[in-house]
Amino acid sequence: PVIYIVTPTYRRPEQLAELTRMSQTLMHVQNIYWLLIEDAKEKSQMISNFLNRTGIRFIHLHSDSTQGKYKGAKPRGVGSRNKGLKWIRENANDGVLYFADDDNTYDLQLFKEMRYTKKVSMWPVGLVTQTGVSSPIVKNGKFVGFYDGWIGGRKFPVDMAGFAINIKFLKTRPNAAMAYKLGYEEDSFLKSLAPFEPQNIELKADNCTKILVWHTQTKKNPSSLPLDKKKYADTNLIELKQ
Ligand code: UGA
Ligand code: MN
Repeated sequence: PVIYIVTPTYRRPEQLAELTRMSQTLMHVQNIYWLLIEDAKEKSQMISNFLNRTGIRFIHLHSDSTQGKYKGAKPRGVGSRNKGLKWIRENANDGVLYFADDDNTYDLQLFKEMRYTKKVSMWPVGLVTQTGVSSPIVKNGKFVGFYDGWIGGRKFPVDMAGFAINIKFLKTRPNAAMAYKLGYEEDSFLKSLAPFEPQNIELKADNCTKILVWHTQTKKNPSSLPLDKKKYADTNLIELKQ
């Protein structure tokens, strides 16, 4: 089966570094489509050139939904993921969908684990919240609950990088989509697959005992800072040089 990897991305100084790292992982994975979806009014030539250089089979899109703020903060990548969902509904018949952010770290074994997902599969994600890991809890080979540093009343307290969905199954749920609600992106999407219960999850990564993906976050370079703060950063650099 084909794996459709849906990656939201946005312009910032670290973008090309993240995408280079991610693409050089994906170059080692057979039979994939990389849906790279820019959070921008239009597609950029820079990303287009980048994708062409990778040799990976790709679909280059941009999210056209205008994204506002939710309780003062902005859920990240939701418009792009929904755009990817729409594309998959219209263009794919089977295979597996994986929401892969551009800044995480992916073990190649992860793609082997998810490729034969029948409905929804899950596995642990490392470096999530203070507890350091987010994962289904498995006892005697059976799902018994979720472990996550923040449960927040969620039915599916999991990280975006911790699950994959079979596309034939997805297509039996025509209204499945991700809500524009900070902290509840994963939960809203998985709930929209109803009827689907946590007990139905396919457990991967040796019954969730192995970490094959990490929620790594790249430190912002001073060049990302707003102009007033940037001056301060530049001053620091000058001080360092002296
Ligand atoms: C965590 C989760 O892993 C995300 O899946 C979730 O969307 C996010 O929190 C959230 O709740 O908002 P985090 O590492 O905090 O992710 O967020 P980022 O990695 O900064 O963003 C997630 C994805 O959205 C990335 O692929 C990023 O490139 C993209 N993004 C971010 C945009 O497309 N637009 C933005 O303005 C910001
Ligand atoms: Mn991230």
